[in-house]
Amino acid sequence: MVKKVAILANGGDVSGFNAVIRAIVKTAEGRGVKCYGFIDGYRGLLKNEYIPLSTSDSRKASGILPKGGSIIGSSTNANVFNYKVEENGEIVYKDLSDVCVENLKKDEFDCLFTLGGDGTQKSARDFSLKGINVIGVPKTIDNDVACTDITFGYNTAVSVASDALDRLHTTGETHHRIMVLEVMGRYAGWIALESAIAGGADVALIPEIPYDINKAVEKINHRRDMGKNFSIVVVAEGAMPKGGDITIEGTRNNGSGVDNTKLGGVGSIVAKQLEELTGLEARCTVLGYIQRGGTPTAFDRVLSTKYGSKAMELALEGKFNVLTVLKDGKLDCVPLEEVVGNNKVIGAVSGNTKESNIRKVNMDNDLVKTARNIGICLGD
Ligand code: F6P
Repeated sequence: MVKKVAILANGGDVSGFNAVIRAIVKTAEGRGVKCYGFIDGYRGLLKNEYIPLSTSDSRKASGILPKGGSIIGSSTNANVFNYKVEENGEIVYKDLSDVCVENLKKDEFDCLFTLGGDGTQKSARDFSLKGINVIGVPKTIDNDVACTDITFGYNTAVSVASDALDRLHTTGETHHRIMVLEVMGRYAGWIALESAIAGGADVALIPEIPYDINKAVEKINHRRDMGKNFSIVVVAEGAMPKGGDITIEGTRNNGSGVDNTKLGGVGSIVAKQLEELTGLEARCTVLGYIQRGGTPTAFDRVLSTKYGSKAMELALEGKFNVLTVLKDGKLDCVPLEEVVGNNKVIGAVSGNTKESNIRKVNMDNDLVKTARNIGICLGD
């Protein structure tokens, strides 16, 4: 019997976190279950910092459906299985997961909902192996969590990017320029590809297809020959040239954690090269965190609500250690074991490693086919 549950939001924020929290709380309240939220993701679990969540208190889980961010915060560098601590003036990494297990047991939580991406669900699986009842909800604007068709937050990011492309279109056309938009997408090009289609772009460069800049030049020159002396180019932050590397701007999370590179800069490189090779002026815009903030789209509000209420239903059925997913339009769940794929080692790294199980764009995906059919150059 589930009577008391906790929610945590972890990893980079997305629009939709609050909608999931609200749906879990509302579904729980209808069945007499008490809800709590750990502050700042796994860090709050480690410190045992949590607050009650209810819809009767308007400062908490009510009135938050359209609100961006997360009312219980989130953390991007809180891998409690490999946690950065200072000991005798030295930085060391420690497995502090047993402290979290103790916290959950001591305060008698029957289930922990983990709202997050690949790394968050990896830790969730690791907690399930330590006897904790966990239910994951797939979040990330990058849309790269395995075993589900879509993550919450992704649709809002695509919508923001396609709106930016509409605006770049008019200024590009006016000044006869190549307008490059760098969007997020560390290891998967879903945002770049889908927004390129939605925003009528001419070129889309994604991490899954190392690009040949000359192919983009051919496309832009061909347009110019037809009298169209402006072009729109979308570049995922994780795109790389053939035989080249990902562009790294710096370090994130102060170097703690396991996936520390801050990507960025490939858009400017592409714009400079296109300017030199086509003779047309080029400008680059980096969309950045605008993709993650603000109100969720109607689609994301509904998806987040479905995921949240399904997660609570699963808890009430006693079906733990699973991730809520959408498969061919139907709500479902899959074991967290499947989500982590080959990344079986407890506390092992997430991100773009050989072991991780990120869902990348497949070359036989409809989006790839559609883009090619309508003449969007993918750099190959
Ligand atoms: O994974 C989501 C994401 O937004 C990526 O697209 C991006 O590379 C990364 O997070 C940025 O993370 P941070 O918030 O640490 O800068």
